[in-house]
Amino acid sequence: KRLILIGPPGSGKGTQSPIIKDDYCLCHLATGDMLRAAVAAKTPLGIKAKETMEKGELVSDELVVGIIDEAIKKPSCQKGFILDGFPRTVAQAEKLDEMLGKQGSKIDKVLNFAIDDAILEERITGRWIHPPSGRTYHTKFAPPKVHGLDDVTGDPLIQRKDDTAEVLKSRLEAFHRQTEPVIDYYSKKGVVAQLHAEKPPKEVTTEVQKALA
Ligand code: AP5
Ligand code: ZN
Repeated sequence: KRLILIGPPGSGKGTQSPIIKDDYCLCHLATGDMLRAAVAAKTPLGIKAKETMEKGELVSDELVVGIIDEAIKKPSCQKGFILDGFPRTVAQAEKLDEMLGKQGSKIDKVLNFAIDDAILEERITGRWIHPPSGRTYHTKFAPPKVHGLDDVTGDPLIQRKDDTAEVLKSRLEAFHRQTEPVIDYYSKKGVVAQLHAEKPPKEVTTEVQKALA
């Protein structure tokens, strides 16, 4: 399967991705995670993206299209993939269609993590992550066994630099202005499944499984 997860910051894309990935043996391609790794490693790409990400704005289409173009050609992604956080502009969606067209493939399903903005601040400001594994916790909704430590490795957890109430405002604005049109783009192709992303994680998982069955 070739899937796209679309939703505002904190809607649960990164939380559901590992479950979908294991259920269907797909590769998980999260442009945000890849960009944060590049920032941490201070690669040329990371140096270009850092400031924009910290402001909560979208990095250039060119940068992320390049990352995805390379990633979807990998042998491990030939059985299918989950795009988490990409495409985020109509221009990115058009480029993606073009890349897949060349391979003779297409997007099977777009999962729309629909949720009210008002819920997202609490989700974002309470999030703690373990970057090496991608595991995500929440102080209230999904606390780790030991405060501040990853359940599996015991490594310290960190908070994302853009996970403040203030930067969230810019991220939400970018979502409504630039990413919502992508949902319309795929609706016209008849591949969008609507999720109730405000429900508890397990119920969202059930909805995802129904949408993909
Ligand atoms: P990115 O990393 O993609 O961030 P985002 O879209 O803002 O999404 P988040 O990762 O914040 O949310 P999520 O839906 O994954 O939430 P999660 O599951 O963790 O992008 C970051 C930046 O990179 C962008 O701002 C931009 O600068 C750049 N970028 C990336 N891709 C780009 C692109 N294509 N083009 C241009 N620029 C790009 O959940 C959040 C919290 O809530 C967690 O603590 C979790 O435990 C909790 N939670 C999850 N589900 C539930 C639930 N059902 N109930 C209660 N709590 C829940
Ligand atoms: Zn995420």
